[in-house]
Amino acid sequence: MSNPNCIEFDDVVAGYKDFMILNNLSFQARRGSITLLLGPNGAGKSTVLKTLFGLLKPRQGRILLDGADITGAGQKELLARGIAFVPQGRNLFGQLTVFQNLELGGITLGMKTTHARIPEVLEFFPRVKERLHSQASALSGGEQKQLEIGRALLLRPKVLLIDEPSIGLSPIVVQDVFRLLRRLADQGATVLMVEQNVKSALKVSDEAIALESGRLVLHKPASELLADPNIERLFLGGAHATSSAATV
Ligand SMILES: Nc1ncnc2c1ncn2[C@@H]1O[C@H](COP(=O)(O)OP(=O)(O)O)[C@@H](O)[C@H]1O
Ligand SMILES: [Mg+2]
Repeated sequence: MSNPNCIEFDDVVAGYKDFMILNNLSFQARRGSITLLLGPNGAGKSTVLKTLFGLLKPRQGRILLDGADITGAGQKELLARGIAFVPQGRNLFGQLTVFQNLELGGITLGMKTTHARIPEVLEFFPRVKERLHSQASALSGGEQKQLEIGRALLLRPKVLLIDEPSIGLSPIVVQDVFRLLRRLADQGATVLMVEQNVKSALKVSDEAIALESGRLVLHKPASELLADPNIERLFLGGAHATSSAATV
């Protein structure tokens, strides 16, 4: 049987300048599943996504995509291999229209392919579709996040990295976003999601990984963690609630 792991971190050390954040991190994320990345602020969750997306080069260890070594690969190669990244916060060109933002998202595909794929992506987001020629900044927070996800989906990604998508969104929109991620995973995409909205996120996820100071402290099926009576103490209170906010 072929290896079910789409992403593998093997003993990865990575950080900023001389300050290492990920410390000998090893984990696998399975194809066609949602893997949820948990942990307190500053644990290194965003750093994992940034390292996978080639924004940081590992100092040690290997990163594999479907068994191929992609350690140290550049952004262009990673995009071509089907990795897409939706960072935390707002990442649109607010002055441009919805359509123009989508066009920019497809820049590596060429305009012909991009234009052919835009309708297919918009099918996921009826509200965004209705506002194709509005300025992106005029959309609601939820619509803007949907547009960002749509922009990533233009690439028909094999791997979708998404960092705290629920921030600033209403609970209903968050559920829409989670349902969409579930659908993508069910269609074969590998989703790696960072989310502080732990309980809701666990409900749509397959696996949960927790980091502390850049080290793996837990890797379990999401359903098992959801059923754990200690979940509140582990992830929803104490040090996790009071540690300082970290940004992307
Ligand atoms: N661009 C950066 N330069 C230097 N240090 C950073 C940078 N981004 C994050 N860090 C530091 O790396 C650590 C992990 O950050 P991050 O991966 O964003 O954590 P998380 O997403 O789990 O909250 C934190 O101590 C943070 O201050
Ligand atoms: Mg983060």
